[in-house]
Amino acid sequence: MMKQELAKVITHQPIQGDYYNITLSTSEIAPLVQPGQFLEVLVPNLADAVLRRPFSIYNVEEDSVSILYKVVGKGTRAMQRLAPGDEVDVIGPLGNGFPSLANGAYPVLIAGGYGAAALYLHARRCLKKGAVFIGGRAALDILCAEEFRQQGWDVQISTEDGSLGDRGLITDLFDRWLKQYRKIHGIQDPIEIFACGPEGLLRAVGDRAKNNQCSGWLSMDRHMGCGVGVCLTCVIKQKNSEDDWQWARCCKDGPVFESREVLWDE
Ligand SMILES: Cc1cc2nc3c(=O)[nH]c(=O)nc-3n(C[C@H](O)[C@H](O)[C@H](O)COP(=O)(O)OP(=O)(O)OC[C@H]3O[C@@H](n4cnc5c(N)ncnc54)[C@H](O)[C@@H]3O)c2cc1C
Ligand code: FES
Repeated sequence: MMKQELAKVITHQPIQGDYYNITLSTSEIAPLVQPGQFLEVLVPNLADAVLRRPFSIYNVEEDSVSILYKVVGKGTRAMQRLAPGDEVDVIGPLGNGFPSLANGAYPVLIAGGYGAAALYLHARRCLKKGAVFIGGRAALDILCAEEFRQQGWDVQISTEDGSLGDRGLITDLFDRWLKQYRKIHGIQDPIEIFACGPEGLLRAVGDRAKNNQCSGWLSMDRHMGCGVGVCLTCVIKQKNSEDDWQWARCCKDGPVFESREVLWDE
């Protein structure tokens, strides 16, 4: 059930680089949130913009929610100017969110950039802790590593420029882990993957899920117009069978899809 709320900014802090953490008082939305769901924020002080902006719900307390965002354009630049006490119109929680970990599975989270924000609540609520792979261009793009560690997760990091963790793509690090996790880490359970990040990463993670015959839950980061299932800006092709597909809305039917359901564009 989604709610619309006028939420007061409680705290708003820079984290690192272009990333900020904003906490909003939302007594109606907060208790309803499931990991992987998102909010549509109507950014104030944005003269020409009527569209809301989608942000994953990073964390939840009894009557507040937090967003971890990167300043990339005019909406997020305007958001950056919000101060404690300001009010923001928000709709949420939206989308399906991540499913609970399957019985007996070993959880593997894979995040690219601010995708870490979408996975953190899942990590916090997951009863069994596993491995989390966090990748980004440079050290400043690696978010929440300490927070995942504090929740008991085995954190693996890679950056494209080698400024933190391994140098290279996070999928390269994941591939190396896949080859040895049974032997070195003694993990016997089948793995289940949960991922959020840019499309290239999700596609690569989906391939690995298929090759390893495990579930791969992908949270799709699509441009959104309405965020509530009406405008069809956010559609992807969802497979019904090997030769049949239908349009699915990332905002309403997703943003989380199982990798076998997604028919990627050529
Ligand atoms: C379900 C969902 C969850 C999201 N969660 C987060 C989050 O937790 N933290 C966060 O920082 N961002 C998140 N985003 C992305 C965020 O919505 C956009 O960065 C934001 O809307 C940009 O607004 P803007 O007005 O600042 O940028 P604009 O001025 O509209 O665009 C600036 C640049 O960003 C690009 N851009 C805009 N939207 C997206 C997008 N969805 N994906 C990729 N590029 C985009 C544009 O093409 C352009 O190059 C999420 C998006 C979705 C769909
Ligand atoms: S954003 Fe409008 S239908 Fe998904």
